Amino acid sequence: MREPPRALAYGVAVLATAASLFVRWPLWPVLGDAVPHMTFFPAVVVGAYFGGFWPGLLATILSAVAANYFLTQQLRSFHFSVNDLTAAILFVLVGTIVSGLSESLHRARRRIVAHERQRAEAQLELARVNRITTMGQLTASIAHEVNQPIGAVVANANAALRWLDARPPVLDEAREAIDSIVKEGNRAGQVVGRISALVKKTPPQQHPLDVNDIVLEVIALMRSEMLRNRISLQTQLAKSLPLVQGDRIQLQQVMLNLIINAVEVMGKIDERELLIRTGTDAANDVMVEVRDTGPGPKPDSLERLFDAFYTTKPGGMGMGLAICRSIVEAHGGRISATANLPQGAVFRFTLPAQPA
Ligand SMILES: Nc1ncnc2c1ncn2[C@@H]1O[C@H](COP(=O)(O)OP(=O)(O)OP(=O)(O)O)[C@@H](O)[C@H]1O
Ligand SMILES: [Mg+2]
Repeated sequence: MREPPRALAYGVAVLATAASLFVRWPLWPVLGDAVPHMTFFPAVVVGAYFGGFWPGLLATILSAVAANYFLTQQLRSFHFSVNDLTAAILFVLVGTIVSGLSESLHRARRRIVAHERQRAEAQLELARVNRITTMGQLTASIAHEVNQPIGAVVANANAALRWLDARPPVLDEAREAIDSIVKEGNRAGQVVGRISALVKKTPPQQHPLDVNDIVLEVIALMRSEMLRNRISLQTQLAKSLPLVQGDRIQLQQVMLNLIINAVEVMGKIDERELLIRTGTDAANDVMVEVRDTGPGPKPDSLERLFDAFYTTKPGGMGMGLAICRSIVEAHGGRISATANLPQGAVFRFTLPAQPA
């Protein structure tokens, strides 16, 4: 819950006091000057609850003044008895305590809101770092494994050239060097094949999942980032969506990548609208759509967006959409991008519905 603006909080304190007076004033013929301050307690409680210490104190002081001016024996004057004065002092004391207690609630609430924001930011950062680290480690090990046979290929090719350039050419040695090139080339192929088999062979976990839940979880994670970037988010989540079989974390990663991209591309645009829709398509597959109002993908780049290392961002790795595609395909689904009209991009993926 957000804190109300200060001016509004003081306004509420003044209005609540005035309202109390308006309620009590017509009762004068019945109640006379009996316990005038009591009528104002609700004003103090409302002022303190809404605005904390200072608005609560303002309501307390205004109430004490109003009670002693309007509701003591000598109407509309500040001539009041010792009893009236004692009652006013007690009232201010109680009002101050109530306001102080309310202020501590306000402080606690502010702390909770700040912690919540920090937690969401940290989680988002973790998701990002996680992806980058995984990619970085994978790239380093691929580079290491493939570099060795490539180095051997280059060394053998140079040797073969030297044997062939010799006068007369030493054909046996050249053949041996070329044999090694073929062997090392095959080895490099096997390394790459092994790595892609490794990546493919980690099958996603299979759990029945409600895609709407996944969308809402990722939105919760991204909410503060979207607020910070002044992006207005709309959701149209289909009711009674069929469940899908899959890996919650991986599908969250897909949503996260699509939303991060949308947030990043809308950075320089005035109209920042994000629409997230879920539903089913003609084949009763589950469909998720992320629509933004950014500059949109370049028409000739639509084919390449999902390629690894394709990026148009200065600090981008070009891995977000490649990861999305491999996850969606591992779940038996498809992902595609089109232009949004009049401007922006639409990323849509489908996942097969779990058989009933
Ligand atoms: N919503 C979008 N609107 C317009 N272009 C987009 C959108 N999403 C992605 N793109 C284009 O596709 C490219 C590839 O996106 P991808 O997420 O794969 O990599 P990236 O965002 O550049 O880097 P990172 O690896 O950090 O995600 C982007 O650089 C951008 O040019
Ligand atoms: Mg990206």
